[in-house]
Amino acid sequence: MRITFVCLGNICRSPMAELVLKKMVKERGLASSFEITSCGTFSYEEGSPLYAPASRTLRAHGVEGEHTARKVTRDDVEKSDYLLVMDESNYRDLTEFAGDAGKGKIFLLLSFTPRGGAVADPWFTRDFEKAYADIEEGCRCFLDFVLQKDVPVQK
Ligand code: 4NP
Repeated sequence: MRITFVCLGNICRSPMAELVLKKMVKERGLASSFEITSCGTFSYEEGSPLYAPASRTLRAHGVEGEHTARKVTRDDVEKSDYLLVMDESNYRDLTEFAGDAGKGKIFLLLSFTPRGGAVADPWFTRDFEKAYADIEEGCRCFLDFVLQKDVPVQK
């Protein structure tokens, strides 16, 4: 199963979600069943590393890993089973970019949680802990959801 997280710049929220979900599937022994990546709807951060405060927040929670920012491609849309976005603005931008190929694949990450809502952008709020907490909850609920749908597990 291929999962692609999408935010605006691909230096804060979506790479945080990518690394959090990668850790979760690894801990459950399911890493080989998932391909997890992330990208942004805009290209201006292309080639940038994970934003330092995002990286520090991940490390404080025991999440390791690197990411280089890139813009979403047609391939991301066509090959992903789920495209998980952070807020309504990502949803609009990605839905427009994806066209028919995105039908039925684009979801707000927090729509898998009982409360719904959006992962506020820490680039603007400066609250990286809140973003981490939202992302952790969203990834946990999303993983529970796909595992209940009987993902074929190749160990
Ligand atoms: P992200 O955060 O979408 O969570 O990666 C942002 C990163 C950069 C900018 C905005 C949001 N920016 O305006 O450069």
